[in-house]
Amino acid sequence: MAAERYRFFQRNPSRPDIAAEVKDGLRSSIKRISPKFFYDERGSRLFEEITRLPEYYLTRTEIDILNAHKHELAEVIGKHCCLLEYGSGSSRKVRILIHALEPRYYVPIDISEKHLQQSAAAIHDDFQKLSVFPTCADYSKTVELPEVIDGVRRCGFFPGSSIGNFERTEAVEFLAAMRLNVGAGGYCIIGFDSRKSPDIVEPAYNDRAGVTAKFNLNLLTHLNRAIGTNFDVSKFRHHAFYDQVRGRIEMHLICQSSHQVQLDGETFTIAKDESVHTENSYKYSLDEVKTVAKAAGMTYVNHWEDDASWFYVVLLQADG
Ligand code: AVJ
Repeated sequence: MAAERYRFFQRNPSRPDIAAEVKDGLRSSIKRISPKFFYDERGSRLFEEITRLPEYYLTRTEIDILNAHKHELAEVIGKHCCLLEYGSGSSRKVRILIHALEPRYYVPIDISEKHLQQSAAAIHDDFQKLSVFPTCADYSKTVELPEVIDGVRRCGFFPGSSIGNFERTEAVEFLAAMRLNVGAGGYCIIGFDSRKSPDIVEPAYNDRAGVTAKFNLNLLTHLNRAIGTNFDVSKFRHHAFYDQVRGRIEMHLICQSSHQVQLDGETFTIAKDESVHTENSYKYSLDEVKTVAKAAGMTYVNHWEDDASWFYVVLLQADG
C-alpha cells in the first residue's frame, strides 16, 4: 500500500478557551494579551513581511547559519526521521532541513489554520517522498501528535527565536514537553536570539516602515473578529523597548484615550496611557541556553552561530 502522504489534524483550542485566556489577561493589574494571538491570516502575512525587513536580522541570520551547517546537522541526526516543527511559519527554514535530513515525515504544528494548511500543502507538493501531517494546535500547551508517526525516530525544530516568547521558566517547561514529543535520544534544533547591544535589537522591533507596529495592532483586530471584543484599534499605539538586564524586548500597545472594551458581558476599562503588554522576546547567552536545556532534561550537543554572534542555532538531545 502506498504511504499516506497528507492528513490534517485539528487540535486547536475552542473559542471559549481563547475568550477565557483573554479575559484573564485583561483582568490583571498589568493588562496583557498573549503573542500567540498575533497570528491570524493578516498577522502571519505581516510577520512574514517583518522577517524581510532590513532591521530584522533574526530570520536572515538564522537561515544563513542553517545553510552553512545543514550537512553537519544531518550527520548527527541521521536521515529518514520524523521532523516536528513547532510554529510552521513560512517554512523557508524547514525546507533547508528537509533537503539535508530527508525526513520521512514532516509534522508542522501551528495555531493559524489557514497559514498552516497553505505552507504544508506547498511542502507536500515540493517533496514527493515526504509525508506531511499538519497539526493545528497551540504549542504552548502539550501537543497530542498524530498517531500515524508512531515508532519513527523524531527530531524537533523550533526556529526563529520563538522560544523567546516564553518566560525563562516556561522555556524549560516547553523544552521538557518537546523532550517527551521527541522521546529519549531524540534531537531538537532550536533557534535562540543572542543577548546583544540595544542598538541592534531595538530597531528590529521598531522598523522604519512601521510593519511591526501594524503587526502589534493587528492583534486587537484579530480578537475583535475571533471572540467579539470591540477594541478601537485607532486608540492604541505600538511601543517596543529592550530591557538589557532581563535580556528581553517588551512590546506594548499604549492606549491614548480612556477606552472600554466588552467581552462576554464583562467590561474592561483601559485608562489613558495604560499599556496592554503583548509580547516578551527573550534573548539568551550560551550559558542561559545550556541552563534551560539541562533543566528540561536535554543535553547540549553543539551550536552554530554567525560571525557577529547575533543568533545561535542549538542542537540538543533528549536525555534517556
Ligand atoms: C516570532 C517571537 C521570534 O520575537 O522576534 C517580531 C515575533 N514580534 N517582531 C520575535 C516578533 C515583533 C518574533 N518571534
